[in-house]
Amino acid sequence: MSRAGLDKNPREVAEMFDGVAKGYDRTNSVMTMGFDRRWREWSRRVLDARPGEKVLDLAAGTAVSTVEYAATGAWCVAADFSLGMLQTGAHRQVPKVAADAMRLPFADDSFDAVTVSFGIRNFHDPEAALREMARVVRPGGRVVVCEVSTPTFRPFRFVYKRYLLWILPFISRFVSSNPEAYKYLAESMRTWPDQREFGEIVARAGWEDVAWMNLTGGLVALHRATKPTGNPATKSTEKPTDKTADKPA
Ligand SMILES: C[S@@+](CC[C@H](N)C(=O)[O-])C[C@H]1O[C@@H](n2cnc3c(N)ncnc32)[C@H](O)[C@@H]1O
Repeated sequence: MSRAGLDKNPREVAEMFDGVAKGYDRTNSVMTMGFDRRWREWSRRVLDARPGEKVLDLAAGTAVSTVEYAATGAWCVAADFSLGMLQTGAHRQVPKVAADAMRLPFADDSFDAVTVSFGIRNFHDPEAALREMARVVRPGGRVVVCEVSTPTFRPFRFVYKRYLLWILPFISRFVSSNPEAYKYLAESMRTWPDQREFGEIVARAGWEDVAWMNLTGGLVALHRATKPTGNPATKSTEKPTDKTADKPA
C-alpha cells in the first residue's frame, strides 16, 4: 500500500490517507495513548467558537475534530481532499466538503474561524495554505493550528527525535493496515519546524497576534492568530510569542 514522500505530493498524500481511512480513528487513539481527545478539547477551547459562527475545519479527515467544534453551537464544516477519510466519517452529523487546502472552494471572508488539526504538516506548501486560509476568513477572524511539535524538555527531545523514526513504524505494525504510512508520519514529524519557526511561518502568511501553547510537554503545539482588520489603529507589531503556560489540564 502507498505512502507519501516528504515532498508531500498531493496525490500521494490523498491516496495514503484513503488507504488508512478505515482504521484511522482507532489507530490514532492507540498511537497517541488517548491524548488525541485531550488535544482536541484544547483546540476547541482555544478556537473559542460561538453559536452562530461559521468555522472551517480543514484537513478534517473523518470529521472527528469537526464534531468537537460543532458541540459549541457554531456551524462547522469539515473539508478534506481524501474522500476515503470523509466517507469513513459519514456517520458524523456535520457538513463535509471535498477540498484541497491549497485552493479552497469558498469565497473571500466567508468564515469566522479556520482550524487544522494534524493536517498542515502534510500540505505541500504550508505557508501558501495559511495565506489561502486567511483569504476565506473575515478580517478579525481566527486561525487555530494543532500540530505535532518539539518537546520542551531537552533530554526527552533528544530521545524523541532519535527514536521516533524507529518506534512509531514498529508500533504501527500491530495497529495499522499500512505501516508504511506510519514511516511517513514519523519522518514528517521529525522534519516539521519547532514552535517558534512555525509561528514565524504563520506570521509571514499574513496573520497577526501569533501565539502558541504547548500541550503534553511540547509534543503538540496549538498556534493561534488573527486576520488583520486593515485598521492601522488595531495593527499589531508583536512577534510570535509563547504566551501560555506549558501545562495542559
Ligand atoms: C492526520 S489526518 C488529521 C485528521 C483530523 N484533522 C484529525 O485531527 O484527526 C490529516 C488529514 O489531512 C488531509 N490533508 C492533507 N493534505 C491536504 C490538503 N492539501 N487538502 C485537504 N486535506 C488534506 C488528509 O487527507 C488527512 O485526512
